[in-house]
Amino acid sequence: MSKHLAIILGTRPEIIKCAPVILQAPKQHIDVSIIHTGQHYSRELDGIFFQELNVPEPRAHVHVGSHAASIQIGLMIQRVADVLDTMRPDAVLVQGDTNSVLAGALAATKMGIPIAHLEAGLRSDDWSMPEEANRVLADRISRWLFCPTTLQKERLHQEGITNGIYVVGNTAVDSALHYAKIAYEKSDIAERLGIAEKPFGLLTMHRPSNVDDPQRLQDILRALGQASDRLGLTVIFPIHPRTARAIDRAHLKIPSSFLGTEPLGYLDLLRLQSSAELILTDSGGIQEEACTLRIPCVTLRPNTERPETLEVGSNVLCDSTDADVLCRAIESQIKKERNWANPFGDWKTAEHVVRILAN
Ligand code: UD1
Repeated sequence: MSKHLAIILGTRPEIIKCAPVILQAPKQHIDVSIIHTGQHYSRELDGIFFQELNVPEPRAHVHVGSHAASIQIGLMIQRVADVLDTMRPDAVLVQGDTNSVLAGALAATKMGIPIAHLEAGLRSDDWSMPEEANRVLADRISRWLFCPTTLQKERLHQEGITNGIYVVGNTAVDSALHYAKIAYEKSDIAERLGIAEKPFGLLTMHRPSNVDDPQRLQDILRALGQASDRLGLTVIFPIHPRTARAIDRAHLKIPSSFLGTEPLGYLDLLRLQSSAELILTDSGGIQEEACTLRIPCVTLRPNTERPETLEVGSNVLCDSTDADVLCRAIESQIKKERNWANPFGDWKTAEHVVRILAN
């Protein structure tokens, strides 16, 4: 008899990283229902990903939208619980560390539905990040903890969690390698932006710690502008809605060496990532994708929950708003030999996850 897995998601990285599991599940007789919280709702952060990744539309959508975090999480718990009550899945799967993950996990645990947490055991030890509490709490109440590498397994052990841990890799690798081929065939973003033959850097930035304080945002944009001018590098900057709003509110201008765009779909972003000289980011998933696609990365944060990328050298941290410091980080990364080993698994993470859940 087939088993029923409800996948609760709400933001673009969750769609990208759950897609391989959603597509793999039927091969092991697992029936998947997607429950969408509505945390992301704009077409460019949501609908386009379902289309491009060829993922079925959600079976239930609770349309929570943007609110202060505690209100958003509260609404999600209530509405997702109503859906779970009718749906009665055998298990629930959540991925990563967003508010949708915490809400989905809390709704499920209170109804006695076992939880699988994909990307378990990641820690930044930075409790000013909203994601840190989400990660720790979701891990604590999950039955299956799917860790990308042994580092997270060790961390969970230190926290007293010893059962149900599986080291499986990260589905970010499955997705990046699979869809990068499709992106080369289908995306013409480099041509549309007029940078097909030119070297360019790619910047993404949306963390509250970088964008919510107008002074910090101004300083970091200025330093990145100066650094890219000195290095003669055009910087493509797909602007997240949170960042766009912060730039507008503070009446800031993006530097002249930047080419700002709307948020991009997955195929366009993968195409740009694959051909960039360098990636500058504060995203977690992009650190993994850069490592997988063998593009050097500078992470604009003081810490990372992906220390494997630092160990293999694909990534360095640079939290500075000093153009000299940024220039040095960028130059040393650009010169790196791009031959590091990928620490995040074998491109078969979804197969491992689905096999474990099926058994
Ligand atoms: C959320 C996740 C973050 C993840 C990111 C990926 C949390 C705490 N944060 O951050 O971990 O890396 O998604 O993008 O869960 N907005 C829109 N359209 C949308 C959604 C949001 O315009 O579809 C705007 C709203 O103004 C909203 C702001 O973006 O207030 C921030 O959205 P939110 O989902 O709260 O956080 P993200 O910054 O996207």
